[in-house]
Amino acid sequence: MTSFLGPVSDWKTDFDVLDEKYIQFPFSIWDELRNTCPIAHSNRRGSNWLPTSYEDVTQIAHDVLNFSSTQVLVIPFMESRANTDDVGAQVLGYGAPPITSDPPLHTWTRRLILPWFSHAKVAQYEPLTLDICNSLIDNFKTDKFVDGAVQYAQQIPVRVIGHILGVPEYMTDTFTTWVRGFLEFADNSEQRFNSIKELVLYLISVIEERKQLLSDNVKLNDFISYLIEESKNNTQINDAIILGMSLLLLIAGIDTTWSAIGSSLMHLAQNPHDLELLKSNPEVLDTAVEEFLRAYSPVTMARVVTKDLDFKGCQMSKGDKVLMNFPAANRDPAVFENPNKVDLNRKINRHVAFGSGIHRCGGSNLARMELKTSIKTFVNRMPNFKIADPTKIVLAGGQVRGPRELPLEFI
Ligand code: HEM
Repeated sequence: MTSFLGPVSDWKTDFDVLDEKYIQFPFSIWDELRNTCPIAHSNRRGSNWLPTSYEDVTQIAHDVLNFSSTQVLVIPFMESRANTDDVGAQVLGYGAPPITSDPPLHTWTRRLILPWFSHAKVAQYEPLTLDICNSLIDNFKTDKFVDGAVQYAQQIPVRVIGHILGVPEYMTDTFTTWVRGFLEFADNSEQRFNSIKELVLYLISVIEERKQLLSDNVKLNDFISYLIEESKNNTQINDAIILGMSLLLLIAGIDTTWSAIGSSLMHLAQNPHDLELLKSNPEVLDTAVEEFLRAYSPVTMARVVTKDLDFKGCQMSKGDKVLMNFPAANRDPAVFENPNKVDLNRKINRHVAFGSGIHRCGGSNLARMELKTSIKTFVNRMPNFKIADPTKIVLAGGQVRGPRELPLEFI
């Protein structure tokens, strides 16, 4: 299926991240661009640049003066509609800091988030994550087939982040639908707008409810209540900041990690020798998880160019977007030996799946714990599996890459 903007004529000048070829086989496209271009341009969805080398991606990530984070969506949001709508205006107006902000807003909002994802804090979420994995497996352990994306990977991060935000477990599927509607079905502007609107309205109601409970001296330990409490001593933390930051954790914490878990299981199902390696040498898990993150990096972010400039011969104009191609950077032969080989024992692996510079992922400790726990538990309990039908695998692309349907067969 080609994107609704039609087939790509030339990847150097007309790329489309929602083109089916780019979703299915981006690696050869990146290799070709890196060798010949190496920064592609396209006028689809506005004027967009696509760097493909590690050096260019990381250099841009560190240059926050020329490349701003105030527009991070890879597929632009329907701004005209949002500006005429109260809730849309809230989302666009305040964004989701720290990810949608530059310093100084970025600096203090990031500082508020980091303690929630320290190693010590993440260790507290590990038993919960293990319970979630085990109970999901209990549901299909006697079956011959399972959808590794829908019945397993998709279910784990949303429950963990839901716990951190203190929202009820029955909202799990609804959150997943909203977040997918916003990030994944970005070409469907109506669905996208309604998804983010529903999510924002829900969070506004939760914030109001928490404020009421806290004023009644009820003791609460969730992230939203923490922000409300902090706001009493810090007037910068207004309702819009609380909303934007809660929104960010939900969006950042769901699709990303679910995609990484799904890609890891997909790789193991397609490569029996790697599955055997993991079973016979469980200590390989640490390097294996880093290699899955490198080779199947899920996240591409955007930056907006703040003034007309020349970047390595590319004439970029103020307002152009740059797509931060962390996945392509992670396959750059200038940095990674034999980059298209997935080597679970890879020792030197300074990948940028979690980004680079001041916006480097705030939840990477949590993501790593969730990845290790979910893969280890699956492999321990359901050690023999393969792809049931390769033609039934459904991959998503755009902002977050990864399997959305992953038919597995237990053997
Ligand atoms: C495998 C899973 C994940 C991947 C690959 C990933 C990737 C990324 C990337 C590439 C960025 C940088 C964005 C940029 O440069 O614009 C980022 C930022 C961020 N991520 Fe993650 N992420 C993952 C999981 C999580 C989780 C579980 C959370 C927490 C709930 C989280 C929270 C954040 C936050 C708060 C930021 C913004 C940091 C800032 O702007 O200072 N991420 N992530």
